[in-house]
Amino acid sequence: MGIQFDAEQSIFKLDTYETTYVIALSREGYAGHVYYGKRLKAMCGKDLLRMEEPPYTPSLHKREKSAFLNVFPMEYPTGGIGDYRESCLDIRNEYGNMGCEIFYRSHRIIKGKPRLKGLPASFGEEGQVETLELLCEDPVLDLEIILSYSVFEKEDIITRNIRIVNKGQKIRRLEKVYSACLDMDNRDYEVITLHGAWARERHIQRNRLVYGKQRVSSGRGETSHQEHPFLALVTPNTTQDTGEVYGMHFVYSGNFIAQAERSQYDQVRMVMGISGEEFCWKLCPGEEFQAPETVLVYSDEGLGKMTRSLHDFYREHMIRSPYKYRKRPVLLNNWEATYFHFDSEKLLDIAREAAANGIEMLVMDDGWFGKRNSDDNSLGDWYVNEEKLTSGLPDLVKKVNEIGLEFGIWFEPEMISPDSELYRTHPDWAFCIPNREPCQSRAQYVLDLSRADVREYAYECVAKILRSAPISYVKWDMNRQLSDMGSSYLKADEQQELFHRYVLGVYELQERLVAEFPDLLLENCSGGGARFDPGMLYYSPQIWCSDNTDAIERLRIQEGTALLYPLSSIGAHVSDCPNHTVGRNTPFETRAHVALAGTFGYELDITKIAEEERNQIAGQVELCHKYQPLMQTGDYYRIASWSEQRPYDCWEVAAKDGSEALVTYVQVLAVPNWHSTNIKISGLDPEAVYILEGTEKTYTGEELMYCGFLVKEQNGDARSCQYHFVQKKTDAI
Ligand code: DGJ
Repeated sequence: MGIQFDAEQSIFKLDTYETTYVIALSREGYAGHVYYGKRLKAMCGKDLLRMEEPPYTPSLHKREKSAFLNVFPMEYPTGGIGDYRESCLDIRNEYGNMGCEIFYRSHRIIKGKPRLKGLPASFGEEGQVETLELLCEDPVLDLEIILSYSVFEKEDIITRNIRIVNKGQKIRRLEKVYSACLDMDNRDYEVITLHGAWARERHIQRNRLVYGKQRVSSGRGETSHQEHPFLALVTPNTTQDTGEVYGMHFVYSGNFIAQAERSQYDQVRMVMGISGEEFCWKLCPGEEFQAPETVLVYSDEGLGKMTRSLHDFYREHMIRSPYKYRKRPVLLNNWEATYFHFDSEKLLDIAREAAANGIEMLVMDDGWFGKRNSDDNSLGDWYVNEEKLTSGLPDLVKKVNEIGLEFGIWFEPEMISPDSELYRTHPDWAFCIPNREPCQSRAQYVLDLSRADVREYAYECVAKILRSAPISYVKWDMNRQLSDMGSSYLKADEQQELFHRYVLGVYELQERLVAEFPDLLLENCSGGGARFDPGMLYYSPQIWCSDNTDAIERLRIQEGTALLYPLSSIGAHVSDCPNHTVGRNTPFETRAHVALAGTFGYELDITKIAEEERNQIAGQVELCHKYQPLMQTGDYYRIASWSEQRPYDCWEVAAKDGSEALVTYVQVLAVPNWHSTNIKISGLDPEAVYILEGTEKTYTGEELMYCGFLVKEQNGDARSCQYHFVQKKTDAI
């Protein structure tokens, strides 16, 4: 188990419960990738490195270097020296030349996992994780490069990160520093990535891996609605239960690249890291650069197993919040209820009706500060608008608490409106290129978070409000992508550090926030789900998934999100109909069933909706209380997918001990002249007997898993139902 080193063969073997990762060293000290896959008992030999092979191998001892570099499976390839596949590390010397080559010098194996300075990263106790650090060197550039591998045995996850230390006397310019590489032989791989747009986040896309480079990336300064820092290679015909999957997921919230390259010899190089576009880091003597973490996952039992490994891993080793497994309040957010048009009285009316129906928290969204009655002003002016909140914020919070609800509030701390007191006082606090009018998006500019004074201001604005009243929840929003990357604080040769410095600034702010307010429930958000990434999970246990709250649209969005993220992290609310984004009408029950596969809450004017719908709320809140522990800890199985052209969508969450399972079925489109649908479920005890709650029906676990049960066709579109199977106490059939 864990990490072993065979000194005779110079081989490192990293084992999780079900996977093995093997690294070997060449004579020269190149770290080569030998194997990643199903768990191996014995050390694997180095033959797979093809070190002695033609073509163009003049002799065993005098190999032609470029031919060698073009086939050698590198653990961490470097640029400019003859490996023409994608490099992970491009560095420019004092003469302006780009070239870097690294050689193994020593290693250490550590129980546990060191923290990554300034960055979110997975964590674990000794006994849960072990770390291998390969200490490499570029003797010409006087750089130390530490390749770090952390092995999480139980969750079958290996994480990687890179640290570069300038040991010399010269400035080094890092033009590209990726965080992970996986070189393998192609096996007719297909590539799975997530793509989207605002209100259409994280749709799953799958293509054949062809020759050349296939990538997803972001240059928008945040993870983005458009592409996601995840990439998986799968063997042909991989399903939820069968096939091999190699996944990489990036623990970072800014510009990224995730790329698979099929090369001339039918080898595959999969890389992930901060995008090299518009990135250059000046590394002065004695300084170090820490690249973010990448999560590696392998499954030989299809996508479902990958999903469950990631869910367990993020729950156990990425989310720090005390709310991880704690009961989360059922909240009502006033955004779709009122948008900017509310005052204390309106909020209190909503609160009273919400409390009467079992809701536990009121979240006051955008529009409570400055003179904000629309989205074109006041960001940065974080003082209460007393025309709206007539008796001030502490009084409003007190009254909401007296009604019996907790209170939550919305902020957008990273932004500044051109029409704000803050901008009039500090125009240089916004990103701006000299002599160029910066581009506005949603009528706002971006604060230069590379500056300590700006960070201090942004932090204190949020903290002062939180110190002023018992506020239990913050929604931290971010509603535009970055452009006009100029900082009045950085020197000319540091401007290309700005994208990364911005992300580091966001992390610093959120770190301070969770340290000062450890019991705060923080929900990250970015114009819906543009900053849904593992980095954000380190600070907030839940992230708003999408501004699209339509139950049918959400099926696809939540399917793609749940491919990687635990359901307990997926912000999901029941909203009003016709849906504000797509104009669709769906049954109130279906909206609740879909939102129950996330954090669950409401986003509607409860005083105005139809009574018939309002009357369902108390029961839905009860369902949330009942199922939340299962949703927070259980195993997720994707049973059928509407996005794969089925007329229905279906998923299941099973308790880890097989004691219960909840199946949710959504009939998206009614099909004429159809019969009932057979649904097979997973994760049960085949020997046990299960009762279908609300009926007298019993099934054996094996019956439900191997034969299935029947779901009846319903009359109408967007109909849904839930089936809760509970193990009977006696084990007699
Ligand atoms: C975008 C968020 O996703 C919405 O939920 C809402 O908070 C608005 N911003 C407010 O401006």
